Amino acid sequence: MSDHGTSIVIEELRTKPNLLLCAATGSSPLGLYEGLTRLAKMGKGRFKDLRVLKLDEWIGLGKSAEGSCEHYLRANVIEPLEISEDRYLTFDPDAHEHDEECKRVQYQIQKNGPIDLCVLGLGKNGHLGFNEPGSFLQPNCHVAHLTPESQQHDMVVDGTAKPKYGMTLGIRDILLSKKIIILVSGEEKDEAKRSLFSGQISTTCPASFLWLHNNVDCLVVG
Ligand code: GLP
Repeated sequence: MSDHGTSIVIEELRTKPNLLLCAATGSSPLGLYEGLTRLAKMGKGRFKDLRVLKLDEWIGLGKSAEGSCEHYLRANVIEPLEISEDRYLTFDPDAHEHDEECKRVQYQIQKNGPIDLCVLGLGKNGHLGFNEPGSFLQPNCHVAHLTPESQQHDMVVDGTAKPKYGMTLGIRDILLSKKIIILVSGEEKDEAKRSLFSGQISTTCPASFLWLHNNVDCLVVG
């Protein structure tokens, strides 16, 4: 799954070196990022024009907290691929005005977008980024109230801060990507997989909205 994901990113980069890559965190895309890191070590410069956009961020964890998406992306993408600050678009984990921060990121997407390639993971509850299951979804960047499942995510479950909210791209922001890869791996995802693969579109499984997009690669393990 990861190797295939890596080769898709490389192929896209070949046709567009300044690709705008939207990057999820979590365990699912880790192997894909490791694949890119290996290639960066072998052939320097391959990523010199790549631009990276952070998909989502916890609220309440500082920049340097190990569980933050910032820490994860810096360690697994930004530093190994030598992405300069001007090529990294991010929700600031230390922002105090979260609605304003979402508006700022929205503006950045408008200015630098559309997203060329969006790398997503499937949440245990069917979420995409922090677009959580519920009676409605939000189109644009917004502050999300995290479901209990998301509050128990491996990234934060052992930390002292217990985030209840997150900042995330909205479902429209994601669906406006030219191409999407969704990586489906990890335990306790049977129900989310069933909902996704049923082909029915419902806000109770935000990932099911990917059926509305005509260029999605769904890579599944297990
Ligand atoms: C977290 C992250 C998402 C990620 C999802 C799936 O909520 N904020 O960006 O895609 O969970 O995580 P995992 O791949 O670890 O199952």
